[in-house]
Formats: sequence, structure tokens, C-alpha cells
Amino acid sequence: MTSRRKFLKNSLAVTAGVGIVGASCAEKKPTALVRASKPKALSTWVHGLPANEEAMRIISGGGSALDGAEKGVMVIEADPNGSSVGIGGLPDRDGNVTLDACIMDHQGNAGAVCFLQNIKHPIAVARKVMEDTPHVMLAGEGARRFALAQGFAEENLLTESSKKAWEEWLKSAEYNPIINVENHDTIGMICQDAEGNLSGSCTTSGLAYKMHGRVGDSPIIGAGLFVDNDYGAAVATGMGELMMKTLGSFLVVELIRQGASAQEACEDAIQRIVDKLDYKSFQVGYLAMDIAGNTGAFAIHPGFNYAEMANGKNELIDAKSYLNG
Ligand code: GLY
Repeated sequence: MTSRRKFLKNSLAVTAGVGIVGASCAEKKPTALVRASKPKALSTWVHGLPANEEAMRIISGGGSALDGAEKGVMVIEADPNGSSVGIGGLPDRDGNVTLDACIMDHQGNAGAVCFLQNIKHPIAVARKVMEDTPHVMLAGEGARRFALAQGFAEENLLTESSKKAWEEWLKSAEYNPIINVENHDTIGMICQDAEGNLSGSCTTSGLAYKMHGRVGDSPIIGAGLFVDNDYGAAVATGMGELMMKTLGSFLVVELIRQGASAQEACEDAIQRIVDKLDYKSFQVGYLAMDIAGNTGAFAIHPGFNYAEMANGKNELIDAKSYLNG
């Protein structure tokens, strides 16, 4: 945390300058970061490994970071054995699988869907919202109808094993919304393509056994995902309410814009949660990459890991955390 303290000290020194603070929020800040031009994929949790493989297959073949970020997480959405994303996701407390997702490209375009049911690939629908509508987010029945009109198939997403887990939960039906490292969730992905452009994606079935209608951070631009192609990108995983209250992914990227490293920015965004919110029972993890390809990751609790792929190597890495064990 020494480097974080140094960053904070430097920030204070800069913001002490009269008249600079207001202007610095709106203006494009100069950055010492030199844009990398080597394909790279970064994504949350162990399911990030196969997602990275697919993303890199696309990007290394000349595809865009946007295509990589979309198609990479679609592998996980389509896996019925994953209980936190797409088909097979654990349902809400009434037995409905409801999905949230968002996507953002290097030009600042964004699309999202939330509370979407019976469509396996919410990330692809989010991309359609971004590219084929004048809006950023469609919700619920409107999102489902839009998906059907776009040619997406309707299907039952509640698998037998997720149904069994829900029926087991119903025996106590205790509403105890905790996300910890055993109940991890979202896949968030950041890709950089051969031109050095960044894009990101985020998709989840959200909190298991949530209240019907609950939407988390994952489809909220700035909470679950943020991309600023001049500086960096960030994604979040964990208990969405905490990232929504602190606009965490935006905060990480904004800190990079202000001069923090990707690692310092993730640490500081977790510190913001610790300073302001009841955090001890909840897990939150941030993952970030700047335009130079430097990565950062930090969580509240130990146990958060992420997959990083570049130069033909795909690695699962344990993130550092605010609390230790
Ligand atoms: N981070 C996923 C959720 O809270 O729904």
C-alpha cells in the first residue's frame, strides 16, 4: 500500500493548485502511458481462462477488442455448468433466472440489458442495444422482446442442477444476500487488440436467490464496467450493491486518468468501499488494465482470482486483498 499512499500524496499536491481541480475533471489529461499494441485478455475468476482463450483467438486473428470481449464471455454464458452466468445461473428466490450484462467499446459506446429472462446470451443482446438502438439499456420484458425481434432464441435457462439447488434453498428460504468467495459470480472481461484499443464486457445471473426484480452492478456502466480508451478499463465482481454505491469501475478508471497505476486504482476503489460502507461480510473484486497493458487487481477478501492472457500464456492469478484470511 506504500505506492498507493504515494499516489494519494501526489494527488493532494496536484489538487492543491488553485483552479486546477474543476478543470481537470473535464479536460483530457496528458498521460505518461504509452499504448501497447499486443493483444491481451483479462477476465475475472477461473472461468476467465476459457473466456480468454476464445477472446485471444479472435483478437490474434485480427479481430477487435470488442469482438473479443463479447465472444469471450459468451463461452461462459453458454456453459450450463456455470451457476453464476447465463444458462445454469442460480435463480431468484421465486425460481426465475434473470440476467444482467453490459458492453463498452473503445469509442465510448455502451449497451446493456438487465432483468432479462430466457435469453442465453445477454452480452450479445447488450451489444445489439449499443449498435442498433439510440439507447444504452433495455430492461426486463422490453429487453426480451427486443432480443426476440433481433433473432435471439427463447429458452429455459433453469437447469436441473440449479433448480435442485434452489429447491434446497427453499427449505429454509433464508434471505441472506451475501456474496463471498464461495459464491462468486460475474465474468468481467477487458480486451486490448493489436491496435491498442480497449473494450470490456460484464455478464452475470447476479446474486443467487435475490428478490425478484433485483438488478446488480453488472449492467450498470460505471459500476460493473467502464472503459476510457485514453487511459484504461475496469470491471467489477462481487456484491453489486457496494459497487453501485461507489460507482466503482468508473472510479478505478478515473483514478488511472488522474495518474494512479492500475493496481493503485483498484486498491483505492476498494478503500473507498471500506471507508464508506459496511463491507466485512461482502466480497468485491476489481480488475483493471491501462492502455499500456499494465494490469491491477484488488479485493476486499482473499480468494478473488483472475485470468490474464498474453503472448500465448494464459494464467490464473490470485489478487491481493484488503483483509487477509
Ligand atoms: N456482481 C453481480 C451482482 O451483484 O449482481
